[in-house]
Amino acid sequence: MPRISVTVDGISYEEDVEPRLLLVHLLRERLGKTGTPVGCDTSNCGACTVMLDGKSVKSCSVLAVQADGCEIVTIEGLGSGGSMHPMQRAFHEEHALQCGYCTPGMVMAAIDLLRDDPDPSEDAIRQGLEGNLCRCTGYCNIVRAVRRGAQEMGQAVSTP
Ligand code: FES
Ligand code: FES
Repeated sequence: MPRISVTVDGISYEEDVEPRLLLVHLLRERLGKTGTPVGCDTSNCGACTVMLDGKSVKSCSVLAVQADGCEIVTIEGLGSGGSMHPMQRAFHEEHALQCGYCTPGMVMAAIDLLRDDPDPSEDAIRQGLEGNLCRCTGYCNIVRAVRRGAQEMGQAVSTP
């Protein structure tokens, strides 16, 4: 069985994994990162989105062995010092969730979207998040939250 090394939310792990084990199952079942949900298991819904070496990926579409040597950030590793990440706070303040099942993936995908476009238009947000499905909200508040998160993150970067 292959042995892999990964860093997840700042902690290093060494794990023996079946070659077919999906990253999302490594995170949830072996490392206890249940903040990353499984919605479909077929790379359609985006609920399982995490950062892999700084880029968002659907963790049900990545094998754990492919993450060997990588740094992973889940929704549980986003905030710091007991504070929410600005994008998490924006989702909270804009009430961009109902059941919350899609929210971890939405937040991760939204942060990744801002890497390429720090001030995205509504259209760019809708297009950028098209791989993340929400069954509850109708998306309007999610779009508002991403705009707000983008503004707050922009201010955070420009504040000395
Ligand atoms: S659980 Fe991974 S995309 Fe749906
Ligand atoms: S808040 Fe329920 S799926 Fe998005």
